[in-house]
Amino acid sequence: MHLTSFVESGTMAFDTEILQPDDAGIASAARRLRKGDLVAFATETVYGLGADARNGTAVANIFQAKDRPTFNPLIVHVANMDAVREIVDLPDILEKAGDAFWPGPLTLLAPIRSGAHISDLVTAGMSNLAIRVPAHPSAQALLDAFDGPIAAPSANRSGRISPTIASDVMIELGGRISAIVDGGPCAVGLESTIIGIEDDHPVLLRPGGIAIEALTDLFGHALMTPHNCGIQAPGQLRSHYAPDCAIRLDVNQPRSDELFIRFGSGQMHEYCIDLSQTGDLVEAAANLFNSLRRADQKAQELGLRGIAVTPIPDKGLGVAINDRLRRAAAPRD
Ligand code: TXA
Ligand code: MG
Repeated sequence: MHLTSFVESGTMAFDTEILQPDDAGIASAARRLRKGDLVAFATETVYGLGADARNGTAVANIFQAKDRPTFNPLIVHVANMDAVREIVDLPDILEKAGDAFWPGPLTLLAPIRSGAHISDLVTAGMSNLAIRVPAHPSAQALLDAFDGPIAAPSANRSGRISPTIASDVMIELGGRISAIVDGGPCAVGLESTIIGIEDDHPVLLRPGGIAIEALTDLFGHALMTPHNCGIQAPGQLRSHYAPDCAIRLDVNQPRSDELFIRFGSGQMHEYCIDLSQTGDLVEAAANLFNSLRRADQKAQELGLRGIAVTPIPDKGLGVAINDRLRRAAAPRD
């Protein structure tokens, strides 16, 4: 349905190719990016939908492929700190975070340098640019082969669950993009933590793949959340990461006609999916989006009324898990 309306809207349909993360696959992916085509690739957080960040047409095609209603700004992915410094002026306090967590699941928001040659669409015309050095070996190999900045949002259609395996990217974007580099399942499974700066203080714009306590340790205090609405909080839409089924959170006693997402050795139920049987928040984060997708499919197949989710402790990666679950459960606009 989506695919048909998209193709009918006049955009060329692609025979989306799955590429292996070997030399030939990575070289092919880099060639496609150079041509201005879209290539999805694995990062340690979630799969990204990549385009050459310097090519305005390629970046515009990201919004088209995702059915993104507005030009939300995009994260630029680069190989290392030197490449970061070519694109943004990193305040010392953010550089400290980059030194501690890059390469890894961290995105920093900093003023774009003049002459950075990044398409205006990437920042949606704002003066700050979001930048990240991913750790995943195939993302690093692609950045190395492409030898330039890659703009990439998560590789899902707008408002839907971020994909953490290549086959889910195919479901979301097959026919709309040139290729997918299959780097296997994403180890972190949640998007990156986004940190910006406000009045010289670091602010947490999106909880993500870095445990909240690790940030508190690094900065010596808990991070503030933004006051200045000039900085747009990411995932701004309250309903986001939304499965098709209704979701209830903090449920200890699921109804018999609900699919139950459990954490730890929870309540037994006829239809269960476990985030982590041992109550491990890192494992639960890695399984979260895939579990939501499976739960959604299963609940529909079985004709259940919806999905119930057990309470998740609000510490470590649980803070980001609960943020995503609240958005998944929010009333739909
Ligand atoms: O882990 C991740 O961060 C993944 C992988 C692919 O890197 N990417 C990702 O991108 O989650 P996306 O577009 O789904 O979410 C990025 C969020 C968006 O909500 C966007 O509004 C915000 O970051 N963002 C990006 N650039 C920004 C900017 N210049 N100012 C404010 N917010 C920005
Ligand atoms: Mg996203």
